[in-house]
Amino acid sequence: MKVGVAAGPLESVKADAIVVGVYAEEKRLREAAARIDRALDGQLSEVLEAERFASKPAHVTHVHTGGRVPAGRVVVVGLGKRVELTLETIRHAAAAGLRRARDLGAKSAALEVLGDRLPARSRAHAATEGALLGAYTFDRYKREKTDKRVESLTIVEPDARGRREVADGARTGEVFAEATCFARDLVNSPANDVHPTYLAQVAGEIAKEAGLGLTVFDRAECQKMGMGLFLGVAAGSEQPPKFIHLSYTPPGRRRRRVAVIGKGITFDSGGLDLKPAEGMLRMKDDMSGGAAVLAIMRALPRLAPTVEVHGLIAATENMPSGSAIRPGDVLRAMNGTTVEIGNTDAEGRLTLADALCYAREKVRADEIVDMATLTGACVVALGPSCSGLFANDQRLADRLLAAAESAGERVWQLPLFDEYREHLKSEVADFNNVGPRGGGAITAGLFLKEFAGDAPWAHLDIAGPAFVEKDTPTGPKGATGAPVRTMLCYLMSQG
Ligand code: BES
Ligand code: MN
Ligand code: ZN
Repeated sequence: MKVGVAAGPLESVKADAIVVGVYAEEKRLREAAARIDRALDGQLSEVLEAERFASKPAHVTHVHTGGRVPAGRVVVVGLGKRVELTLETIRHAAAAGLRRARDLGAKSAALEVLGDRLPARSRAHAATEGALLGAYTFDRYKREKTDKRVESLTIVEPDARGRREVADGARTGEVFAEATCFARDLVNSPANDVHPTYLAQVAGEIAKEAGLGLTVFDRAECQKMGMGLFLGVAAGSEQPPKFIHLSYTPPGRRRRRVAVIGKGITFDSGGLDLKPAEGMLRMKDDMSGGAAVLAIMRALPRLAPTVEVHGLIAATENMPSGSAIRPGDVLRAMNGTTVEIGNTDAEGRLTLADALCYAREKVRADEIVDMATLTGACVVALGPSCSGLFANDQRLADRLLAAAESAGERVWQLPLFDEYREHLKSEVADFNNVGPRGGGAITAGLFLKEFAGDAPWAHLDIAGPAFVEKDTPTGPKGATGAPVRTMLCYLMSQG
């Protein structure tokens, strides 16, 4: 979808549909809605009254204009109470409005910079982002492509003085949404196409387009670096593993160096500890963290943060076969630590452990954040819409929580209790890769913490929100693109 910005009254914009916001509990229509109502001879207020339109957040309805304004349709979205307006309400309203415009067959839509009071730049960001996210569809594998697609979106600011800020916010919102949808496409695509070699190829295209540094290590090179945990997970698969390292360097003096690691299991069968059928069904999504890394790295040059960012993905499948690792095997990590395999289905932490070692030894990162669909236990704890956050540094955790808040993604911090470390004890090796069932998300976090050493490190367990069974206000069921927007907000706020 093409995005543009215009200044002037919404009702004079020529588009197939214009989207206007209305607050709840106000006696009369105001601003753009009032002007459109007058142009339509009061038809808009009549429809709203007849439908008892309550203007609750993201409530949506529409009227056809019969040519009384340049636009063919007016889509009305609820904004809730004026005093309670948040950026999240704006996102949801824009998403609902754009979906309605699309379903009405509009090819072009104009969206008012919804709301007031909040800064114009963030409102424009939220409106654009919500619109693009809400209109997302995935039909790459369908014979029948939907012909209902909004091709151009104009963000309209009534006040010409605010135009620069609005253009700036809309641009950032567009980049954030595009990155999110890029991750969604990768995760929604099936594992027979999205294998480690494919992820490496995508990394290659991104590096070329965006001008990023790229190194891809194959099995032999990973062997040389001593990545025994990563290669252990890869041992059962016909698909060759790839260790992907993308880097973004800001112009000018080098600032802090952040490593962003994504779990890149392109399919998780569980390995010899095979998953039951229901549990395996969505496991093409086990590379959501890796998809987030690719999406983030691709967006960085356009956002130009001042930190140096290294994106790392240890990409492999987790498959059972005669060459697969066995329960009871002992593997050696890049830093020499030995791990006994208590369960081959706890593979993510193994691949991430070697990526953490790499981030420390090779990248010498000042700070590390990993994103992983790591544990079912985290979904049990926090449900489908919230990521678990773990960190060995509270300042880093607080910054990530603040970023998630402004991005509109749910993140909740969980503890790393020291006394649970004994859950990872092994009789034969330094650690076991699994503990007892209770507190499984924490045990996984504690395992990773051992490999982060003294670097400030945080871990986002995205097993719940990366892939959802129901439509959400900002997208259809399936891949959500979490936590791309949180991480972009985070990286943008780093000096
Ligand atoms: N990829 C799964 C975690 C997962 C489960 C993500 C459900 C999304 C939805 C991970 O590799 C896994 O299998 N974890 C095991 C760990 C257990 C064996 C300690 C789990 O959570 O059951
Ligand atoms: Mn697993
Ligand atoms: Zn997994």
